[in-house]
Amino acid sequence: MNVITDPSAMQRAADGARAEGKTIAFVPTMGALHDGHLTLIREAVGYGDTVVTSIFVNPTQFGQGEDFDRYPRDLDRDAPLAADAGCDILFVPSQSAMYPGGHATFVNVEGITEVLEGKSRPGHFRGVATIVAKLCNIVKPHVLLLGQKDGQQVAVLRRMLRDLQFDVRLVVVPTVREDDGLAMSSRNVYLTPEERAQAPVLCAALRMAEERIRGGESNAGVVREAMRGMITSKPLASIDYVSVAHGESLEELVRIAPGIPVMISLAVRFGTTRLIDNTTFTL
Ligand code: PAF
Repeated sequence: MNVITDPSAMQRAADGARAEGKTIAFVPTMGALHDGHLTLIREAVGYGDTVVTSIFVNPTQFGQGEDFDRYPRDLDRDAPLAADAGCDILFVPSQSAMYPGGHATFVNVEGITEVLEGKSRPGHFRGVATIVAKLCNIVKPHVLLLGQKDGQQVAVLRRMLRDLQFDVRLVVVPTVREDDGLAMSSRNVYLTPEERAQAPVLCAALRMAEERIRGGESNAGVVREAMRGMITSKPLASIDYVSVAHGESLEELVRIAPGIPVMISLAVRFGTTRLIDNTTFTL
C-alpha cells in the first residue's frame, strides 16, 4: 500500500491510474478504522482496480464543543488495517494541505442539511459536503463508497453529487453492527461499560419501528412515540431526536404509505457520547 500525504501527488497517482484504464474506488474516512470502515474498503475492492482510502479528521464538520480535539488519531494502527482490507493508496493529507490559509470556498446543500443532524449540529454538513467534494477532486474516483450508518450524510452527499454533476457513482454499504446490534462507530469507545450495555436499545427501537410499519402501522407519530418509550426505558439514554421521515427529502412523515422511501433515524446521548443510527426501506 502506498501512503500519500500531498494532494498534488494524489492527483498525479489518480491521473496515472485513469490513464492505465483503471477504475478508482474511494472510501473517505476520518480514521479510527473499525469493522464498518474495513467492510467499506473490502467492498471497494469489488468496484475498483485501485482502492483509495482517505484519513482526514475534517475540522470544518465539527462544531464548537464537539470532539474534534479528542477524536481518535492513530495512523500506525489504521494503516496496516487499511492495507489488509485491500486499500492500495492511503491518502492522509494534513490540515494545512486541505485548508491552506485563505481557503474561502464551501459547499452548502440546502434544505436537507437543516433537519435532524443538521439541526443539532449547524454547519456540520457544510463541512462534510465541502471536504467530500474536495477529496473527489483530488482522488478522482469512479466509485464513492459510503456507509448507511450515517443516513443523512448519504442523502446529502447523493444530492451534492447530483447537483454538482460529479461523474462519480455512489455505492451505499449497509451498516455493520456488533453482535448485540449496536452500530459500529468510532465514538463507541467513549461509552462507559454501563452505557455500552444500554446502547443496543437504539438498534432494537429501529427494528421495532420497522416491524410495526411492515405490520400495518401507518401513523408515523405512533411509531415515533413507541420508539421514544422504548429508548427512555433505559435510564442512561437521553433522546436528541427520533424521526420517521421521507427517505430523500428528509421531511417528517405524517402517514407512511406504500412506495414512499422511509428513513427512520435517531440520535441519542449516553453521558457525553452522542450516537446515531438509522434504517431505510420502501414498503
Ligand atoms: O463519515 C465520515 O467519516 C466523514 O463525515 C467523511 C465522509 C469522511 C467526511 O469527513
